Amino acid sequence: MRATLYGGPGDITVGERPDPRLRTPGDAIVRVTLGCVCGSDLWYYRGVNPHALGPIGHEFIGVIEQAGADVTGLKPGDLVVAPFTFCDGTCANCAAGWTGNCLNGGSFGNHGVDGGQGEYVRVPFADATLVKVPGSGHSDAVMKSLVALSDVMCTGHHAAVSAGVKPGDTVAVVGDGAVGLCGVIAAKRLGAERIISLSRNPVRQALAREFGATDVLTERGDDAIKLIMEMTGGIGVDAALECVGTGESMATAFGVARVGAVVGAVGVPHDSLVPLQTVIFRNVGLRGGIAPARRYIPELLDDVLAGRINPGLVLDYETDLDGIGDAYAAMLERRATKSLVRVGAGVQGAM
Ligand SMILES: NC(=O)c1ccc[n+]([C@@H]2O[C@H](COP(=O)([O-])OP(=O)(O)OC[C@H]3O[C@@H](n4cnc5c(N)ncnc54)[C@H](O)[C@@H]3O)[C@@H](O)[C@H]2O)c1
Ligand SMILES: [Zn+2]
Repeated sequence: MRATLYGGPGDITVGERPDPRLRTPGDAIVRVTLGCVCGSDLWYYRGVNPHALGPIGHEFIGVIEQAGADVTGLKPGDLVVAPFTFCDGTCANCAAGWTGNCLNGGSFGNHGVDGGQGEYVRVPFADATLVKVPGSGHSDAVMKSLVALSDVMCTGHHAAVSAGVKPGDTVAVVGDGAVGLCGVIAAKRLGAERIISLSRNPVRQALAREFGATDVLTERGDDAIKLIMEMTGGIGVDAALECVGTGESMATAFGVARVGAVVGAVGVPHDSLVPLQTVIFRNVGLRGGIAPARRYIPELLDDVLAGRINPGLVLDYETDLDGIGDAYAAMLERRATKSLVRVGAGVQGAM
């Protein structure tokens, strides 16, 4: 099969990999239809975080090609959403809802596990990992929103849930990548009344507004903190979503949080510090982490299928496997908010 291969920083190519085969009776083979590039992939592409050489990509939807003998809930032809991590659904962490921390799980597209930016993926614990999409005849717009459920929509939701967003809240979203923009969708969905998005990019500013941001600020760092404190009468926001992963964005999130608020942080941390003085003297908490995407997909899927949310709009660049190199470059150069990769033809239900 053809699959995207990581060859080191800045080195993304398409090459040949062995066709995956069922290894255990609980496995399924998924024929990937749509995949995408994540902000997390950019850390590897930039050479900031390590990634094993070989397959890459952890966000995909596709069609079941083959199901192992023990797989009961899925059959060939089913359209499925894959969360970015696989999970057994039964370990102590999965039982507590933390599917992204499964004791027997792992991430797609790293350490030799098939990646979502390739033609086929062997999915371990298929019944527990994959979510079947009901219905047929889904539009291309819905398909894009389904692949956004693989990671970024669930991750933005995790930031909002972790920060305890509730009806009537004023929320600040730090970060205007796909995750931050999905954080805006999630905050709105949970009833936030005022949503302040930090963004300098006109395309992302427009998307943030479309998703429900009431205020869009171009300021960053101390300037952003000063302005948001002024906008909230010196009190700060009820919930702050950290969706970048840098020291500055974490400082901004803590700097705008009101007394008693919680920072919901999902950015992969790089030189980030937790300001303990703020934690203790302003009673500001920190939650967040690896999004338990598998836990969130069913409820968010209902909203996608009902047309209540449309996270697929973050995918503003698209290509096929041959164009994967530019799909990464476009995101790095901020020509794209998020890159969609059309991998396989014959998407079940696609128009
Ligand atoms: N926790 C999880 O499960 C999980 C899942 C997916 C992604 N992530 C992480 O979430 C983060 C965001 O992902 P993404 O795909 O949106 O990434 P991205 O790189 O596309 O977007 C980040 C955006 O933040 C903006 N930004 C940078 N510094 C800022 C600042 N100080 N204030 C405001 N905005 C700032 C950048 O301009 C960029 O547009 C990354 O760290 C990614 O690795 C975490
Ligand atoms: Zn991702």
